[in-house]
Amino acid sequence: MTTSINNSPLRHLLTLNDLTRKELEGIVAHAIELKSARKQGKEQARLNGKVLGMIFEKSSTRTRVSFEAGMAQLGGHALFLSPSDTQLGRGEPIEDSARVISRMVDVIMIRTFEQEKLEAFARYSQVPVINALTDDFHPCQLLADIQTFVEHRGELSGKTVAWVGDGNNMCQSYINAAALLDFKLNIACPKGYEPDAELVAANKARVTITHSPAEAVTGAHLVVTDTWASMGQEEEKQQREQAFSGFQVNHALLANAADDVLFMHCLPAYRELEVSADLLEDPRYSVVWDEAENRLHAQKALILFLLGY
Ligand code: CP
Ligand code: NVA
Repeated sequence: MTTSINNSPLRHLLTLNDLTRKELEGIVAHAIELKSARKQGKEQARLNGKVLGMIFEKSSTRTRVSFEAGMAQLGGHALFLSPSDTQLGRGEPIEDSARVISRMVDVIMIRTFEQEKLEAFARYSQVPVINALTDDFHPCQLLADIQTFVEHRGELSGKTVAWVGDGNNMCQSYINAAALLDFKLNIACPKGYEPDAELVAANKARVTITHSPAEAVTGAHLVVTDTWASMGQEEEKQQREQAFSGFQVNHALLANAADDVLFMHCLPAYRELEVSADLLEDPRYSVVWDEAENRLHAQKALILFLLGY
């Protein structure tokens, strides 16, 4: 059984940088144990009486289902809070909402637009706050991605990862992961769609930017992509489809990668845009369904960590 790896009273996960490498590896190892315990029917209801508040200002399938199911499986409860039926949507300040909600629940996850809004909420919260996706980062998805790589291929450290597509929230979380776990990250994106320049500069020892997908994928052990138009960018969809033509991840592109390359996508996927349907459904490379399932296990391990279990 994994012993407690959290000595601090109040911890948040606003970006992956809130974790040390040891903590991140501990959460992933615990997620793998929880997955196995669940499959053997040996799961323990360790969160009896605990409540997770879930604030969603953007749509979700995986994040909502995994957090909600995960809390139920651990004996706790999850509350779905949408702006359309809370006072958040009618302009109650985030600082007031944070103080009120955090007096009533044990842990809170937020999916919103600005990273600053999440940070403001965390400053006023009495309980751990989890970033369930902002415009800038998606750390929970990285926990699941790392778990999936470890399960299929072992440690990610020392490997080469290629990110092909938009320099978005997922890409930026991969940059944080590259720094924490010490892997090489080749990012291929069209001109004008690069990740944040400061973030790239701060991690230039591990991160390279190119505008050639084939160059980025050369020798890669993991190739990752995501939608070309994230939530909030719906009106740019057409313009982005033009800008990203030539950036589809497909079998031809993967021919440049390592023989045992894996393909990941956080989903939802847009077939024949950022990924070919063939590749997405090819179990020799694509581990997207394991990756989606691992959101459940990784977030259970994360909540247990943040609550000091
Ligand atoms: N990957 C992911 O976060 O999916 P949802 O938007 O469905 O939660
Ligand atoms: N980059 C995507 C991820 C969706 C899970 C978005 O922000 O919409």
